[in-house]
Amino acid sequence: MVFSIRSRPSWAIPEALATPETAFVDRRTLLAGMGLGLAGATLGLSRKARAEDADPTADLYPAKKNEAFKLDRDLTPEDVNAHYNNFYEYGTQKGIAEAAQALKTRPWDIEIGGLVEKPFTIGFDELVRKIPLETRLYRHRCVEAWSMTIPWAGFPLNKLVALAKPQASAKYIRFETFLDPEMAPGQNDFLYPWPYIEGVTVEEAANDLAFVVTGAYDKPVAKQHGAPIRLALPWKYGFKSIKSIRKFDFVEEQPVGLWEAIQPQEYGFWANVNPEVPHPRWSQAMERVLHSGDFVLTQIYNGYGAEVASLYANLGNERLFM
Ligand code: MTE
Repeated sequence: MVFSIRSRPSWAIPEALATPETAFVDRRTLLAGMGLGLAGATLGLSRKARAEDADPTADLYPAKKNEAFKLDRDLTPEDVNAHYNNFYEYGTQKGIAEAAQALKTRPWDIEIGGLVEKPFTIGFDELVRKIPLETRLYRHRCVEAWSMTIPWAGFPLNKLVALAKPQASAKYIRFETFLDPEMAPGQNDFLYPWPYIEGVTVEEAANDLAFVVTGAYDKPVAKQHGAPIRLALPWKYGFKSIKSIRKFDFVEEQPVGLWEAIQPQEYGFWANVNPEVPHPRWSQAMERVLHSGDFVLTQIYNGYGAEVASLYANLGNERLFM
């Protein structure tokens, strides 16, 4: 790309990620007060939902619940979750559910490459039947200081790593979303370095919490959530959980994610949740639980410290929390 994203003026930041949380509360309160929002939007989507019925993987759900993953709060109702999304390929606002129905999820080939024994391409429908699926209840904490609780279905990322057979020199996994500006009009916005990229270390990928999502709410994952395959990294801010993945590349260099490429001083590689490390423009001490509107204290590693803190024990000099 000729255009250099790094030369953007500091005010030219993505609207949603720059908006203080109070503004989100106000917008939502306003919608509720107007009697708009979820009910109306649900009606609009139900027609589209019929196309989802034909999903060739529908028989895999509900996936058996893994009882090890319990929550300290109610699940976010599906309707709420389905109409409050970040999926910049379909717009920078939260209400992209309708627009995201344009995402064509079949055929969906996934490339597994880079530093692996033998790079290969596999169709999503084949991959999803190679590894047993399970349902896990996870918290989901956005860097914008709102949170949800979601019944994801899928499999641990480490199972996909085992299929990929990385070489010893692989240090990171770089994930890449599809690139198709005709199907995803947001990708015509040249201010973003498309496609969406994210990455984790191979150690993080080996952690059992790192989850590849193929379903949610007892069915294939909805398009606005990143069908047919996305990540859920619940101890990190939500922007690390990349949607609609086409490529898993095993690499030696630390990948630079889309947000890090745009604003490295605000969105780093590690992006672990920490209430004591504020975003440069707002506090991370609390979060708004989306469905109840309650403000609750944010927990270090989003409450998953027992599972993941050891990953970072020797990385004290890194910016682990932004
Ligand atoms: N993945 C892609 N491809 N495009 C995006 O815009 N947004 C990220 C992440 N993954 C995003 C993405 C952000 S900022 C968040 S908070 C979560 O997806 C939102 O996931 P949800 O809409 O399912 O809640």
